[in-house]
Amino acid sequence: MSTTVAKKIQMVDLKGQYQKIKTEVDSAIQDVINSTAFINGPAVKEFQADLEKYLHVKHVIPCANGTDALQIAMMTLGLKAGDEVITASHTYVATAEVIGLLGLTPVLVEVHADTFCIDVKAIEKAITPKTKAIVPVHLYGQCADMEPILALAKKHNLFVIEDVAQAIGGDYTFSNGAKHKAGTMGTVGCTSFFPSKNLGCYGDGGAIYTNDTALAEKLKMIAHHGQSVQYVHDVVGVNSRLDSIQAAVLKIKLKHLDEYAAARNKAAAYYDKAFANHPKIKIPARAKNSTHVFHQYTLQLVGADRNKIREQLAARDIPSMIYYPIPVHRQKAYQSDKNKPANFPITEHLSTCVLSLPMHTEMDEETLNYISSSLLELLK
Ligand SMILES: Cc1ncc(COP(=O)(O)O)c(C=O)c1O
Repeated sequence: MSTTVAKKIQMVDLKGQYQKIKTEVDSAIQDVINSTAFINGPAVKEFQADLEKYLHVKHVIPCANGTDALQIAMMTLGLKAGDEVITASHTYVATAEVIGLLGLTPVLVEVHADTFCIDVKAIEKAITPKTKAIVPVHLYGQCADMEPILALAKKHNLFVIEDVAQAIGGDYTFSNGAKHKAGTMGTVGCTSFFPSKNLGCYGDGGAIYTNDTALAEKLKMIAHHGQSVQYVHDVVGVNSRLDSIQAAVLKIKLKHLDEYAAARNKAAAYYDKAFANHPKIKIPARAKNSTHVFHQYTLQLVGADRNKIREQLAARDIPSMIYYPIPVHRQKAYQSDKNKPANFPITEHLSTCVLSLPMHTEMDEETLNYISSSLLELLK
């Protein structure tokens, strides 16, 4: 195996990605500066229209970040203190955080051990008369099983708020063959443009999607101080905007999103092949009805000391991450009688064995070879 690589290995190579689009990005940023239309400038509207077209969705409402997107969605849907909102136990804290912040009750349920996405049977078991919404998280770049989730929501009259922060660009295929973009199937979809996301800007950013025109108007109002017409505030809202500079960057990067997903898939296929049938590595499973955009390449280590492996990888200049080391139900802020670790055996297990390897749009074969052969050697 090779003992080193020329380039510094990173979890996400934003610099390498920027170099390829530098001329276009620099000029678009300069245009915004020249125009001084920093807030709600033309770039925001243009990006919004481009994203609507790309997603085949009627409305995109840009906002300041993915957490705000979730919060604005929940505020707009009129969820009230005490309402229960079901979401995945194995997720980033933001999903549960906004539920708690609004005085709603987060009801955490298990995920599938292979796809890492929310388990529909577990959702069904958790539904009570107080349940008002389900928040499936399309984790690591793959869609949760939306067809049965939507059927369940319809049966119980629940909103579906898709957390698509990690899966923008992914496709879900329904049993009738219809394909839909991640985030456009539920009542609303909420995404993040955090720099390391598959469509990341150069700061914070987010968006909400919906096909419901009346709801889109309310979402816009809540995101803009609850304002219906200038200086008229019918409801309490928030101030959450996507900066024009960020929109200008996103407009350029959106044109490359499918090519970025293809590069991520190519890297994932390399890892898959290198780790196939290894007794100590469980490669990421592919969900039946979803494409994968590989926001993360997350494998499971079997019978290996994960921390030691991470240290040994780091000693070879190979970064790795654990998403997520402490599950939401174990966090002090979310502890409750229902959130006992014993109720979440799968999430508990995943928190001990998942390992995410470097994954981005600029991975080359030399790097992939170095990372995979190093891990294989360390697992001997
Ligand atoms: C699953 C998930 N939901 C929500 C968010 C929140 O997005 P942001 O950081 O833009 O607020 C993230 C970001 O890491 C995420 O991964």
